Amino acid sequence: MGTITAQIELTEAELKLLQTLIYQECGMFFDERRSHFLKDRLQRRLKACQLDSFYGYYRLLTSREGKQELSALVENLTVNETSFFRNKPQLDLLQKTILEDILHRKQERRDWNLRVWSAGCSTGQEPYTAAILICDALAYYYLRNPLPFDVPSPKPLIPPPWKLEILASDISYASLRAGQEGLYGETQMEAVEYTTRLRYFEKAADRYAVKRALKELVQFDFHNLKTEFLPRRNDIILCRNVMIYFDAAEQKRLIEKFWHCLNPGGYLLVGHAESLFGLTTKFRMIHQNNGTAYQRIEGAS
Ligand SMILES: C[S@@+](CC[C@H](N)C(=O)[O-])C[C@H]1O[C@@H](n2cnc3c(N)ncnc32)[C@H](O)[C@@H]1O
Repeated sequence: MGTITAQIELTEAELKLLQTLIYQECGMFFDERRSHFLKDRLQRRLKACQLDSFYGYYRLLTSREGKQELSALVENLTVNETSFFRNKPQLDLLQKTILEDILHRKQERRDWNLRVWSAGCSTGQEPYTAAILICDALAYYYLRNPLPFDVPSPKPLIPPPWKLEILASDISYASLRAGQEGLYGETQMEAVEYTTRLRYFEKAADRYAVKRALKELVQFDFHNLKTEFLPRRNDIILCRNVMIYFDAAEQKRLIEKFWHCLNPGGYLLVGHAESLFGLTTKFRMIHQNNGTAYQRIEGAS
């Protein structure tokens, strides 16, 4: 016989208080459709804290001692679904058009630094995908545009003098740890082709480990997208399938912050079900073969 656990009553007023607190903390907005999920997670956290009222739980979360519990709650509310090579048409656009444009402009200015930010990186598949695509694109670009420098042997992933930094950030510490570990099971590797596995992964028991050279290109760090101070000077920002959890007001604020976090002419990539339509006039849309991206418009500050 299964055990029936008694649910503590959550009043409308308590739900409102907690919803507002979560929104202020991380921007996540739980509308009617997702309130069942929120209520379920709140019940679980209340039980874990051994409290008997949601108002008491709210008081804990807003107290100085409650900071850790607030992080635990947010962690429990995040949806971390992700995969390698997610949204292929958009990644083709990134590799064939966007990178080509950025590399060309940078080479003209003799600026060899490329900065990419995966904002809301979950367990790392997105930033590692970006790293793989950029390494391949740079190798191909280098073939066609050789520079008068000797490339040391064995050839590094990033041909000098180019430098690549990929920042992978999230609000979930558990996801960041998994990304940093860089170990993926067979199912998670489904979309990774055989030649890519050979080049960038090695077998570790029944899993695949990201090779050190690729791993070194990706820096995992905590950043809450709700805060004002976010990493600047990026050439490309990938923020895919994150804004769907925010309301329109928060999405607008975030897009405005991203504009400032991009270098002139930089690109923003959002998820397949997301769009900047009606939220900003500071980006122009690029659409090619079913892939969409947004480029920062200059002089729009
Ligand atoms: C559905 S996953 C998307 C992962 C990846 N970008 C992709 O498209 O495959 C959403 C991620 O956004 C993160 N997230 C949600 N709110 C956030 C916030 N305020 N700041 C930073 N990350 C956030 C979650 O922790 C989660 O890992």
